[in-house]
Amino acid sequence: MKILNYGSLNIDHVYRMPAFVKAGETLSATDCALHTGGKGLNQSVALARAGAEVYHGGKIGADGIDLKSFLESAGVNCDHLRIDSAVPTGHAIIQVVDSGENCIIIYGGTNSRVTREEIDDTLAHFDTGDYLLLQNEISNVNYLIHRAHEKGMIVVLNPSPITKALTEYDGLALLDWMIVNQGEAETLAGVSEGDSLSVLAALHAKYPRANLVMTLGKRGAVCLADGAIFTGRTYTYGKRVDTTGAGDTFTGYFIAGLARGCSVAESMELAGRAAGLSITKAGAAESIPDLATVKNAVPVD
Ligand code: RIB
Repeated sequence: MKILNYGSLNIDHVYRMPAFVKAGETLSATDCALHTGGKGLNQSVALARAGAEVYHGGKIGADGIDLKSFLESAGVNCDHLRIDSAVPTGHAIIQVVDSGENCIIIYGGTNSRVTREEIDDTLAHFDTGDYLLLQNEISNVNYLIHRAHEKGMIVVLNPSPITKALTEYDGLALLDWMIVNQGEAETLAGVSEGDSLSVLAALHAKYPRANLVMTLGKRGAVCLADGAIFTGRTYTYGKRVDTTGAGDTFTGYFIAGLARGCSVAESMELAGRAAGLSITKAGAAESIPDLATVKNAVPVD
């Protein structure tokens, strides 16, 4: 069983800040660095480091060749990664504060130039029972969902970042799995408050076909799959340095677990451990641990 992850690749410009910049304010960063990122790329790296057979579909510019090299060195197949020199590679401007939390601006660049013809060409290499993993940082996500569903692929969406256009995609009704954080779940379900289980129930009422995973930050995660509820906890391995990419680490590890036949509970456990380790290091893709590290690391909490 193969996993196609069709998603964004970004050059992350990361600034360590004393606080997040407010409207009208100018603040000096205490440090800055370039990192490898994009929700798509991060999730492909997590899938590969979790031991999955993963193919990355997407698009970079001439300035993004290092992103391709990074994916290949992580063990990701890049046969379906295209190069388009008309616009720059996607990038992100990321502020990270001492608590490890972040604020992110993204510029789509080549991520916004994924075409239907390219999608048709790529999907021709995948079959019924293969996974398609998507986020919301490339063009034609709704088209991808429809075409992959028609082929009988298992379609997983991490609908991040949420946009108004995404909330109106009719393809959301066709998903097999949706992996969201609580804020995204509330927006999609149209509820403004409530405990995590009631938000999950509201999301299920709106998208009854999809199995749902809702991440809850420091409170772990809850899952509704085939009528059963599962809960997952968080694991602490040391100081929270940078939470960027923790959600992507969780998603990649969770899907890799399912794809190799682990139970939902086992997949959530591994995903929670991997995400906990990722936040102890700077950067998004660079901070994603491999499976042996995840299995051997001992949490302090
Ligand atoms: O999820 C983290 C990612 O979001 C960053 O790597 C950044 O590129 C944005 O896509």
